[in-house]
Amino acid sequence: MTSSSLPGAPFLAYREQHLFIEELNLQALAKTHGTPLFVYSKAAMLHALAAYQRGFAGRKAKVHYAMKANSSLGVLQVFAQAGCGFDIVSAGELARVLAAGGRASDVIFSGVGKTRSEMQTALQAGISCFNVESEPELDVLSEVAVAMGKVAPVSIRVNPNVDPKTHPYISTGLKGNKFGIAHERTLQAYQHAASLPGLKVVGIDCHIGSQITTSEPYIDALDKVLDLVEQIEAAGIPIHHLDFGGGLGIDYNGDTPPAADTLWKKLLARLDERGFGDRQLMIEPGRSLVGNAGVCLSEVQFIKPGEQKNFCIIDAAMNDLPRPAMYEAFHQIVPLTLTDASSQVYDVVGPVCESGDWIGRDRALNVQSGDTLAVLSAGAYCMSMASNYNTRGRPAEVLVDGAKAHVIRQRETVADQMRSESLF
Ligand code: LLP
Repeated sequence: MTSSSLPGAPFLAYREQHLFIEELNLQALAKTHGTPLFVYSKAAMLHALAAYQRGFAGRKAKVHYAMKANSSLGVLQVFAQAGCGFDIVSAGELARVLAAGGRASDVIFSGVGKTRSEMQTALQAGISCFNVESEPELDVLSEVAVAMGKVAPVSIRVNPNVDPKTHPYISTGLKGNKFGIAHERTLQAYQHAASLPGLKVVGIDCHIGSQITTSEPYIDALDKVLDLVEQIEAAGIPIHHLDFGGGLGIDYNGDTPPAADTLWKKLLARLDERGFGDRQLMIEPGRSLVGNAGVCLSEVQFIKPGEQKNFCIIDAAMNDLPRPAMYEAFHQIVPLTLTDASSQVYDVVGPVCESGDWIGRDRALNVQSGDTLAVLSAGAYCMSMASNYNTRGRPAEVLVDGAKAHVIRQRETVADQMRSESLF
């Protein structure tokens, strides 16, 4: 294994056989804070953001971090301080943005099932745009806004029917998905929105899926969205901003998605060609900003030889790292200390009582009980999807900035878990 091939390099690298994140030795962090432990590199997040910023240099564009990828306050604080807006999907996420120092006026609200109460909260706070996903939602939002004496800025999420060629659970822009308004109904939906007293049309948006590793689906979607903008504007409804969602993939295991600036160079060229280059642009990246900025450290509890398989049982499980169980996702698992000893093949599994509780299958590792392993690419959709299944407390989180480690979340205790419960 060479450091340069690690997802997360150069912020994650072996130094004299020991794995470091920025200036800190991960083994020392595991010792101080215990395991399982999420550790994030602030520099890696800002580096990922910088690729988008380079891509958008000289353009009217705003990055709205899709905070569902990792909504921990300390992570949001990094992006708020870097001038990002936020893409939210619940009133809870809005509260987090505000608690982390973000501004409501930099928030866009996505999602197919916003409740009236969430609409009220977001209108009251003064968010910049509701990404509306259905015609009934347009009606309800208008009603809620009128009752509050407000006008809701809206963009309609269109479903361009483009195949992002990713896992079926995370493709969202195909006809059979629950997301967005069908291409064919878009003009009608815009005309309807424009006729409602509580709404002001400000934009159009699309998001076709996640972990997309080629540019083509984006180009296809962009062309389809621009066709729609031409139709909508011809009908007299101006579209101020174009929002192309998130979705750019990361390297989990030798994946080679385009760099954000390379992707946007292509997309901007297409936008220029079609005469839309000077529009206000928005994007909603999540995974590509945080995925490879984080690792999850976990201690090996037992090595259990089996008849067909050898198991390496670690103290992190599907409740901490749900992606393998949910999507059969691959995360690299590496030792914190490199040795020359020979390795054996293991299924790396957690203690949860389910056969689906595996973190990695058929991994060659040289490990013993008591060693610490790092599960890589764990910055996105891990902690934010963690649960308390098996009454396991969610892990602590540490944000590393150079040689400083900030605890941004304490390990959850059993008392924390039982706080809101009562006997009857
Ligand atoms: N915008 C909208 C409307 C979205 O639904 C999503 C993600 C994003 C932006 C951000 O997409 P990203 O840049 O992160 O790909 N839990 C799954 C991923 C679910 C993505 C859901 N929507 C996973 O672990 O792979």
